Amino acid sequence: MAKKIKVGVIGAGQVSQLQHIPGAQQSPYAEVVAVADTSKARCKEAAEKFNIPNTFSDYKDLLAMDEIDAVSIALPNFLHYPVTMDALKAGKHAMCDKPMAMNQTEAKRMIDTAKKNRLVFMIGQNMRFSRENQLAKKAIESGKIGEPYHARCRLQRRNGIPRIGSWFTQKKYSGGGVLLDLGVHVLDLTLHLMGSFDVETVSGQVFSKFGRKGLGDGTWGMSERVKAKTYDVEDYATAFLRLKGGKTVILEVCWHAYLQPGHGIDICGTKGGLSTPPAKIFGEKKDIEPPIAPESAKVPLPTERLVHFIDCIVNKKKPICDPKQSLMIQKVLDAIYKSSKTGREVKIK
Ligand SMILES: NC(=O)c1ccc[n+]([C@@H]2O[C@H](COP(=O)([O-])OP(=O)(O)OC[C@H]3O[C@@H](n4cnc5c(N)ncnc54)[C@H](O)[C@@H]3O)[C@@H](O)[C@H]2O)c1
Repeated sequence: MAKKIKVGVIGAGQVSQLQHIPGAQQSPYAEVVAVADTSKARCKEAAEKFNIPNTFSDYKDLLAMDEIDAVSIALPNFLHYPVTMDALKAGKHAMCDKPMAMNQTEAKRMIDTAKKNRLVFMIGQNMRFSRENQLAKKAIESGKIGEPYHARCRLQRRNGIPRIGSWFTQKKYSGGGVLLDLGVHVLDLTLHLMGSFDVETVSGQVFSKFGRKGLGDGTWGMSERVKAKTYDVEDYATAFLRLKGGKTVILEVCWHAYLQPGHGIDICGTKGGLSTPPAKIFGEKKDIEPPIAPESAKVPLPTERLVHFIDCIVNKKKPICDPKQSLMIQKVLDAIYKSSKTGREVKIK
């Protein structure tokens, strides 16, 4: 096998330790040689746990390591844009976690810079990599439900605010609340399954009913609570999207509400319907026709986003998560906030 590429991981918090570092270490083509985090304690913890030789408290020192080919970025949202830009300008391939950026202007610049420097760049939309969802996509692509015309997607938590007072609940660091945290996941997966990112108009509303009162607090995230009780983001978001050709999508996401937690995507097609998870197809005559699972053994698909990202670099493949699609998701997120503020439908340009 060719020489392994060297990967640096920027951010040593929860998603880095749960997914980015172990994900990259699953790749047969890569080794994780450095980790950076402003928290020396978390950096040390990650380096010891995953046997990583170099640690930095300033990510720019990691980027200065010539031997690093690629970076994986697992930082608070406000840092996605500047750190990805620094990485791309330093000639490193980059995978950044969701949401892509704080707004579409930043997102567009990230794409342009990756293109200019001929580097692999993707947003790690991990829901696309679940086996269930990969098979659902295959089933829709093979025409099993006919033409998708409408979808409903929801991701509901109860007591799921990621630590009130941490960067997640402060707009200047997160850019927004549950919409950017969870909405981005189900929206991306829904449009991916529908096979259309041609969103034309968006109407939406966000609500902030619980976090401000200290209710709905959850446990996700390793960062400190920056300001003990600061909460200026939404804990519920809903939206209605119109796509080219008259297709529509309804979105419902919450960190906390007095509702049954859960998540799911339902795609209505002209010949059948598909719901996931668990991925099932509903047909005209039988209730479930056919279940997707038995096909799984035959379909070789990437199930880990870091492995896929590294495979794209080494074997010169196109990432499954096309950054232009991530830009469209960012535009939709921006439009939902605008619509909520103005009380009007927003056209996507
Ligand atoms: N794809 C997913 O399923 C998923 C799940 C959770 C979080 N995320 C995303 O991953 C990102 C990180 O989330 P998390 O849950 O790991 O948060 P976290 O708070 O647990 O970790 C963030 C880390 O970044 C470090 N950091 C902050 N500023 C830094 C800087 N300037 N340089 C280096 N390190 C710095 C913090 O010290 C912390 O260790 C967020 O954008 C979040 O939206 C994605």
